[in-house]
Amino acid sequence: MSDKVYDVPSQWAQKAYVDDAHYQSMYAASVNDPNAFWGEHGKRIDWFTPYTKVKNTSYDPGHVSIKWFEDGVTNVAYNCVDRHLETRGDQVAIIWEGDSPDESRKITYRELSSEVNKLANVLRNRGVEKGDRVTIYLPMIPEAAFAMLACARLGAIHSIVFGGFSPDSLGGRIADCGSKVVITADEGLRGGRKVPLKANVDAAVNQIEGGVDHVIVVRRTGGKVDMVPGRDVYYDEAAAMVTDECPAEPMNAEDPLFILYTSGSTGKPKGVLHTTGGYLVYASMTHQYVFDYHPGDIYWCTADVGWVTGHSYIVYGPLANGATTLMFEGIPNYPSMSRFWDVIDKHQVSIFYTAPTAIRSLMQAGEEPVKKTSRASLRLLGSVGEPINPEAWEWYYRVVGEERCPIVDTWWQTETGGILITPLPGATKLKPGSATRPFFGVQPEVVDAAGQVLDGACEGNLVIADSWPGQMRTVYGDHERFEQTYFATYPGKYFTGDGCRRDADGFYWITGRVDDVINVSGHRMGTAEVESALVAHPKVSEAAVVGFPHDIKGQGIYAYVTLMDGVEPTEELRKELVAWVRREIGPIASPDLIQFAPGLPKTRSGKIMRRILRKIAEDQFESLGDTSTLADPGVVEDLISNRQNKR
Ligand code: PRX
Repeated sequence: MSDKVYDVPSQWAQKAYVDDAHYQSMYAASVNDPNAFWGEHGKRIDWFTPYTKVKNTSYDPGHVSIKWFEDGVTNVAYNCVDRHLETRGDQVAIIWEGDSPDESRKITYRELSSEVNKLANVLRNRGVEKGDRVTIYLPMIPEAAFAMLACARLGAIHSIVFGGFSPDSLGGRIADCGSKVVITADEGLRGGRKVPLKANVDAAVNQIEGGVDHVIVVRRTGGKVDMVPGRDVYYDEAAAMVTDECPAEPMNAEDPLFILYTSGSTGKPKGVLHTTGGYLVYASMTHQYVFDYHPGDIYWCTADVGWVTGHSYIVYGPLANGATTLMFEGIPNYPSMSRFWDVIDKHQVSIFYTAPTAIRSLMQAGEEPVKKTSRASLRLLGSVGEPINPEAWEWYYRVVGEERCPIVDTWWQTETGGILITPLPGATKLKPGSATRPFFGVQPEVVDAAGQVLDGACEGNLVIADSWPGQMRTVYGDHERFEQTYFATYPGKYFTGDGCRRDADGFYWITGRVDDVINVSGHRMGTAEVESALVAHPKVSEAAVVGFPHDIKGQGIYAYVTLMDGVEPTEELRKELVAWVRREIGPIASPDLIQFAPGLPKTRSGKIMRRILRKIAEDQFESLGDTSTLADPGVVEDLISNRQNKR
């Protein structure tokens, strides 16, 4: 923790949408009378039929129900595209920067409209209707945004699966939501390397009973792929057959917009469901205020659309605000460690939003790759995805932003739809490592293990006491799981799964997950998922996975593996297991360290004591706690002496 404080520069307090006094009064209004507050701010989007009801939400155990603007009718694609055509049709909506610095493209709102409508017509011609699910497995190319908006236009529910997931993971997600249509590309391109997206789709679809009806393939690399006659079609060929006019489906505010699968502490990933009206109001409002977005800004969020950050802050929030949003296909260190900063200069980016893991890895290359670029266009920096350590914060502030750009450290989750705790750059003093204060309408509380609400400066678990418009509405197809996961631990409150501290100024410091979820390079991973992948290997009898502190990734994946009787623990097998997990889940789940353990610490009833495994992985051998209740306390010694070293 750092005790440094950076006051709000006076020019920021004057020019930003809100200064501190304004924040205080707006915040008070938002929590004192949410109906009046959101009733007013809901008007920031266009409605075909205006709502007459604003908030209708209940966190009551057994009756959790969340509705916002429930009788309003609108369409997200209309709001992100059509409504801008009259005033800013020729303004650039999307700047696309390819993996190679030689490739980029600018798409105006008018062009965006035409592209979205064509893609919508291609889907419509294949029978896609309101309420149908469409899986999108695309690289970071403009078609990813077109596809999202095309679904929204038709009222179809998109489910994007990150291109780094394996065929197995993809297949599970297609089957869970019952998609009959998949949109993909021949291959993706990242850091000069090809990703076999279409081949992955083929493998995924092969394991689904009944398969899918249509696979639409965008040509990205021109690489040769197998096309199944009658099922598969190249997008450019299908698009040549349709017009660029397609009406926007009238959608109720509570009609689903998208499903996004995310990892939890148990079982398979959950389909987080977001709906139309409240989500868009919240994504666009946070985008405007948190980034102090003004017309003319060039805004760049480096996330992938496969994650919620890409949904809310590359596509929906910025486009609803008529912004120019940059989409980047590549990676931070290709072709050089200056790539981010080169792109900022090339496109005159003024607002830049990235993840601590990227900052930490670029920091390792020193200041030179940053300093040789100008970055004069930058005025605001953002951070998301995991706690940012004060060293990385200071480097980002001092070297990248040259002490001129405030940093907004934004805390939120797939489930929250948009940013919940964050500085507002004209209003909030900054403390490196703190996400600071709640956004309008957000009521954080810190509770102890028994659910007692703590006052003043304290540390405990983070819950949110009442609903905000961007909140997820359910787990797709499993409302019971939604209630159990988020509302059962502390009845009547939304449990975030995060621990936090609140300091004497009322600022929040997120300390990380308190459940069996780990955060690897800002990507969320359930330890249970990695474990079940490992035990699926024929040579593995048992596995336990925990996180450990990793200099670049934030957390790394540490796997304790017990082999079947008679199997030799070799280096080859270690590599084989890493490759196995990559194949089962995807490269993002690769274990960093595997320790072969003849026995795992278990209670007499057979429950693995993860607390002990976590401490060993963190090198905290002195604070293992009570081990006397273990069935075989001797295993702990063995585990400590064979602790794998960090790479
Ligand atoms: O632990 C918190 C961490 O990321 C989790 C949510 O992950 P996901 O649903 O994948 O969404 C990531 C992008 C919004 C949270 O439970 N997290 C996210 N942002 C921060 C953070 N931890 C600390 N500070 C943040 N700014």
